[in-house]
Amino acid sequence: MAAEGCTLREQTHGDTTLNLAEVQQHIEQLAHLAGDILKSHLGKTTASTKSSAYDMVTEADRASEAMLTEALLKAYPTHHIVGEEGGGYGVPLAAAEYVWYVDPLDGTTNFAAGLPFFAVSIALADSNMNPLVGVVYNPIMDELFSASKGHGATLNGQPIQVSTTAELGQSLVASGFPYDKWTSEENNGREWVALMRQTRGIRRLGSAALDLCYVAAGRFDAYWEQKLHSWDLMAGALCVLEAGGKITDYEGVNATQAFRSGRLVATNGRVHDALLQALQTARTTMPVMEA
Ligand code: IPD
Ligand code: CA
Ligand code: CA
Repeated sequence: MAAEGCTLREQTHGDTTLNLAEVQQHIEQLAHLAGDILKSHLGKTTASTKSSAYDMVTEADRASEAMLTEALLKAYPTHHIVGEEGGGYGVPLAAAEYVWYVDPLDGTTNFAAGLPFFAVSIALADSNMNPLVGVVYNPIMDELFSASKGHGATLNGQPIQVSTTAELGQSLVASGFPYDKWTSEENNGREWVALMRQTRGIRRLGSAALDLCYVAAGRFDAYWEQKLHSWDLMAGALCVLEAGGKITDYEGVNATQAFRSGRLVATNGRVHDALLQALQTARTTMPVMEA
């Protein structure tokens, strides 16, 4: 990042002014380091379970989060960090002007199975959950997605844009299933069946952060999922928005509402209304899948 660029991109919130270009450069480096940690554990770690028999955690998740939170706390001691495995770090959330959202390993089920679709996801937001900087790194494919508010999104340094597909029927879309899918009626079954029949193709990669970045890069035309956590979505969502895409909740309310509720629809913008309508129709006309 050019030094000149660093001086131009400042963000002031409360008493603190941040140079977002420097922050972005820093977390890109941290994402690479975390990716090295994940690669060093790949194939050598055993998984245990968390919220359900399907929600796994490994030594790699913990080691990646420990490195990231230690580095972020050292560099930004007045911020709060929301980490998936350890909860809150740093100053209390209510008192923090800036908040980090860290998923040290998004796609743990893939990682534990040796599938190469997993990533590190790191985002910085203001205290109103407006993302400012976001980085998602897949260390196996060596793909670094990065975005800064108002300055676009990149893949390995090259600008990316959402697709131009205008019809849902010609769209390649992605989604995911929540960890309580066996016991909750809100398990995405109706939506999945409906969209399988209304799109060109449908994918379940197993990493929400990469799903979002693939929308940003124009690989997917759209993605939806419910019961997401802030650490899953904040970095990838900023990549979508900065690549020209659109994000709302399932009711079509703005991106912030999607971030808060974890019910998120991300598209290239052109197929957004059609996808919202298809999801709504599926949820109101199809029978739920019994537990
Ligand atoms: C999960 C992945 C998955 C999505 C789940 C997430 P994790 O994150 O992003 O694709 O469907 O909702 O919880 O547990 O692998 O970090
Ligand atoms: Ca995750
Ligand atoms: Ca995770």
